[in-house]
Amino acid sequence: MTIYKYPPINPKAPVFLHGGDYNPDQWPEDVWEQDMRLMKLSHCNAMTVGIFAWTALEPAEGEFDFGWLDRVMDMLAENNSYAVLATPSGARPIWMAQKYPEVLRVRPDRGRNLFGRRHNHCFTSPVYREKTYTIDAKLAERYQNHPALLVWHLSNEYNGACHCDLCRAAFRDWVKARYATLDALNQAWWTAFWSHTYTDWSQIEPPSEIGETSVHGLNLDWKRFTTDQTIDFMENEIAALRQFSTDTPITTNFMGTFPGLNYWKMAKDLDVVSWDSYPMWHKGDNVELAADTAFVHDINRCLKGGKPFMLMESVPSATNWVPSAKVKRPGMHALSSLQAVAHGSDTVQYFQWRKSQGSSEKFHGAVVDHVGHENTRVFRDVADLGQKLEKLQDVIGTTVRPDVAIIYDWENAWAMNDAQGPRRGDKGYLDACKHHYRAFWAQGIPVDIIDMEQDFSGYKLLIAPMLYMIRPGVDERIAEFVKTGGTLVITYWSGIVNDSDLVFLGGWPGGKLREVQGIWAEEIDALYEGDTNTVVPVPVTGNGPGLKGEYTARDYCDLIHPETAQVLATYKSDFYAGRAALTVNAYGEGRAYTISSNNDDRFFSDFYGNLAGELDLLRSLDAHLPHGISAQLRTDGERPFIFLMNYNDAVRGIDLGTTVYTDLLTGEKLTGVVKLGVYDVKVLTV
Ligand code: GLA
Ligand code: ZN
Repeated sequence: MTIYKYPPINPKAPVFLHGGDYNPDQWPEDVWEQDMRLMKLSHCNAMTVGIFAWTALEPAEGEFDFGWLDRVMDMLAENNSYAVLATPSGARPIWMAQKYPEVLRVRPDRGRNLFGRRHNHCFTSPVYREKTYTIDAKLAERYQNHPALLVWHLSNEYNGACHCDLCRAAFRDWVKARYATLDALNQAWWTAFWSHTYTDWSQIEPPSEIGETSVHGLNLDWKRFTTDQTIDFMENEIAALRQFSTDTPITTNFMGTFPGLNYWKMAKDLDVVSWDSYPMWHKGDNVELAADTAFVHDINRCLKGGKPFMLMESVPSATNWVPSAKVKRPGMHALSSLQAVAHGSDTVQYFQWRKSQGSSEKFHGAVVDHVGHENTRVFRDVADLGQKLEKLQDVIGTTVRPDVAIIYDWENAWAMNDAQGPRRGDKGYLDACKHHYRAFWAQGIPVDIIDMEQDFSGYKLLIAPMLYMIRPGVDERIAEFVKTGGTLVITYWSGIVNDSDLVFLGGWPGGKLREVQGIWAEEIDALYEGDTNTVVPVPVTGNGPGLKGEYTARDYCDLIHPETAQVLATYKSDFYAGRAALTVNAYGEGRAYTISSNNDDRFFSDFYGNLAGELDLLRSLDAHLPHGISAQLRTDGERPFIFLMNYNDAVRGIDLGTTVYTDLLTGEKLTGVVKLGVYDVKVLTV
């Protein structure tokens, strides 16, 4: 049965969570009293406490001080507020680094870091794991039944890797477990190249700029290991919490499309997904940025199969780590916060509640500024949003079940970007996924963003831009999807390597994809910046792909040979003029399109607009959306909640037709042509 309505993140608090990272440990107690007053005024109800508070909790080895946290937790509870309570492993005390240098991270050049900053620790170190376990278990034991406890927040933005002896030994064990024999490893990593053949397990070292960087299979496995080792560390933290606190949900804050960790694997261990979102509004085109941000919100909703996520961090005004700390213009705070909600968040939380007086984040935006009172524009924006969230009670737990999925896969990104060819460095994979996504976003068609391991069967349309890597079984599952009636869109530079980054022999795309797509890709032309080709539709009888006129192609032009596929468009210029640029292949009950080049926005808009009609794809709103207006649906399976958002710096009208909607935020009845002000948001229901 399809789930449309999930329970609240913690049924104890069936409300939208609104709050921020709260560091009372940095302030005297009279400030806490003011905080409680201001929290009420700002309509905040959940504070993330203790993230970097290890020294405050354990000032000396084995000497614990929970007194201050007891008072903070009690004060929150007395004020009808809740705690997202963090484990402090994101930054360790100096005493620990001094006594046990092994907790500090070793760089790829094999030098050990000094104490400093945060996230500067070894994930393998038994001492660090033991110390983390102890403090986490003590927190869980003490607060498991506290009325303020709502969610456990593991560490902070897990990231990075360590190259110490312990980590390298763990990597060797990991590699042994994966390959069992050196022959298998040498084959998978193609080590005969430049005479890199391993003759003993002890020779295996992680990639390093002072050593090996050219064995791509090794690089890829090191990234996989880094994710697995981080998970192993995280599981140690989860075990510590679960020793006492058996049912409070556990999360950790992700960082969007951060390339260093495969979040699909990490999310399995979490009860609820959360992420930290910091788009740079007002820098350039807010509309494109809105679509790109929506893409990442959608990933987070999909990481647990459509279950609402938490917007763990965002900024009420401006961050301090951008080239220029431009503040949010009036209206943008509500718009950007409700965008997260529109795409599946059941919380709006900030970094940070109160600006610190010193150190590196003293100028980072916060709900409470250095002035210390509520009479600020930012505070009013936050309070206003809090009141809006209170009106969205019925939206909690709802979700959306799109007909379309786009595959964005971390391992695929790792392998492709590490390859030397057909371009250097970043191959534009993430951009390509966002590019396809924008066409749906602009037309108000909800999309799931999934990795290649997910179940495809519930979708009508599956889009796999630049599916360079095909892990075992994925091509069969794609074939099955198409055979049973699904529509597949796949592009240039797909089906090139297996899960060891070894190129498929015998022609691309490899595996079953060649048969599904009905083409053979002979070579790929990577264009210089500014180079273009033109894609010209071919007249077809019957239903065509909806192309109107010519389109510009950039970056990549795959030179393909249709085998069983039908040609729908061709290249216009260069030596491959007249050759296939877009094909479709009938396969079983379904069909597979191949887009051979990276085309302009208009192409995607026309092509996907046409497919959306043919496939009758689920739309958030049955209306034409003007440029820069986004519509995003959440539903409990019966009632729709349609978030209508204007990212333009101008008023726009939209025709809602004859349906009479109610705006949950204002109670207004809306029908026919309605106006959306600059950065306006309406939440329509019937
Ligand atoms: C990250 C961290 C926070 C803070 C913010 C600043 O998301 O998790 O502790 O440093 O960035 O934007
Ligand atoms: Zn280490």
